[in-house]
This record gives sequence, C-alpha cells and structure tokens, in this order.
Amino acid sequence: MIFHGSRFTFRPDVPPEQRTKALDSLRDQGRTVPSVTFFLVGRDSSGEYEWGAVFVVEDLAACREFLTHPASRHADRIVRPLVEEFTSFDLTDDPDPEAGARIAEVRRRLLDTPVPSRRTVLKAVAAGTAVAATGVVAPAAATAPAAAAQAYAVAPGSSVEVPMTVNGRLRKVVLEPRVTLLDTLRERLGLTGTKKGCDRGECGACTVLVDGERVKSCLTLAVMRPGAEITTVEGLARGEELHPVQEAFIRNDAFQCGACTPGQIMSAVACINEGHAGSEAEIREWMSGNLCRCAAYQNIVAAVADAAKEVRR
Ligand code: FES
Ligand code: FES
Repeated sequence: MIFHGSRFTFRPDVPPEQRTKALDSLRDQGRTVPSVTFFLVGRDSSGEYEWGAVFVVEDLAACREFLTHPASRHADRIVRPLVEEFTSFDLTDDPDPEAGARIAEVRRRLLDTPVPSRRTVLKAVAAGTAVAATGVVAPAAATAPAAAAQAYAVAPGSSVEVPMTVNGRLRKVVLEPRVTLLDTLRERLGLTGTKKGCDRGECGACTVLVDGERVKSCLTLAVMRPGAEITTVEGLARGEELHPVQEAFIRNDAFQCGACTPGQIMSAVACINEGHAGSEAEIREWMSGNLCRCAAYQNIVAAVADAAKEVRR
C-alpha cells in the first residue's frame, strides 16, 4: 500500500475563482486514473492552504502508473503554474525497524502537526462527509485513515526519506536505497522530460544537473545526493521564456526524433558553463558523452556554439 500526497499553497495573486477552477480540474483528473483507489482534493477553511491529490494506491506499479498517467500530468500542468509552494510525500510499507521509525516520524509530521487544511480534510473523510462537503471523489473515503495508518505496518523493503531541491522546489521522497535518481525524477516526481535511453550510462539521455554539474541520473542513486539541487530540462525555462540553449536547439534544428534532446540540452548548458564551448572541436569533445541515434551531431554542435555566443553576451 502506498499513501501519496501533495500539499500546496497557491500564489497570493491567484484569485479565489481561479483556485476553485484549478481544484475542480484536479478532482476531475483524479476520477480518470484507474489505479487510484482513493482520491481527495481539499482545502482548509481559511483558504491559507490548499490540498490536492491525496491518494492511496495498492502497490508500487500502480503508484508508478498514477504518476505517469496522462491525467496526472495534465493535472500537474493545470495546477503547477498557480502554486507557490509544493510539498510531495510518499509513504510506503516497511518492515525494517529503523526505516519504520523514520517513516513513523514522517507520518507524525505529515499527519499530526497542526496543519488545518489536512486535518479538516481527514476529519471530513473520517466523518464520511467529504463527498457532500467538498464534492470530493473518494470511492474509499471511509477507509482512508485506516489505510494510511496501515501503510507503515508491513513492508516489502526498507525505505529512506531523501530531501532534494528539484527545479527550485523542495521535494521529499521516501524510497528504497536502490532507486536511481532517474527513476525518482520520472516515476516518483512525474518529471518525464529526463529520458531513459540505455539505463546503463552509455547514451547520456538521462543527463541532469546536480549542484550545477552534469550527471547521468541512471547511474546515480537518489540516496547518494541528499539535499542536492537538481535541475532537469523542465526547470530551464523561466515561464514562457526558453533558456538560450533551448532557443538555439530550435533555431538550429538540432533534433530529429527528440529522444536524446533533453539530455543534450542539459549537457550543453553545463558544457557552456564549464567554458568548454570555445570551438567546434572542443564542443564535440565535451559533448561526446551524449549520443544521438538520429546523428544530428552537426546541428547539435552548431546549436551549442550559437547558445554559447548568446550566454557570453
Ligand atoms: S539512460 Fe543514462 S546514460 Fe543512457
Ligand atoms: S534526435 Fe533522435 S536521438 Fe537525437
């Protein structure tokens, strides 16, 4: 059993009607995900906190399905631009006493600290009034608190909580130590811009920046980088404004199928920052860890050189 939730606060400039519309959309999307056995959208009475996507799924595969389901991504697109602060959490079963204690601590902080919105939501669920009060989709509403409590009792493997800042936002994920950073980003945090190519360090499709340095996320375990600042391709643009490297890739037609492109772009950002984009030969050398099966190398090199000029200006 996995209990996953996301707490968020809207930006202060988002008007009440827009908040209501966003929460309604979220609710609608929750209805369409088959693996979710319990789905709840709530808000506290003061309007200070909003709660979204508190859901219970049966197993890891179903959790993965939820996080990668088009409806989940669509909901993300609707709500994310309006959100100021976003905290995500996963609680998984775990038999290991130490890990169990850590999860219990996470649970205590998440469930027992005085956060009015959450408590309001769970009380409403416990009282069986959630649907009537909020229009919430809650097929298993009455069993939700029990399900959440059971979530820590029995477990298939030990887990640890790993805090990381992803694209400027603090995320805390509870996962088994064997989980790669790539799978954490794609399957736990729903950031599917980072691609899985070979999954063994050969192609560079999974390149992300960790504390400003490019790394192959398929070869990096998430537990190896607690507290790291991670930037994925989703974190490069500033609102509608693309990063100069993204602009240059478009200008120079530097992709065909696009499978390698997020990794190429992240690597190019680092290559330029490192000062390794002074000539075509240098770019080819320092971008050699990123393969392109469409062989768009000529245009990729041109795009990196082009972007380097922009960045230096
Ligand atoms: S997926 Fe990581 S290097 Fe290929
Ligand atoms: S554009 Fe297709 S793999 Fe690079």
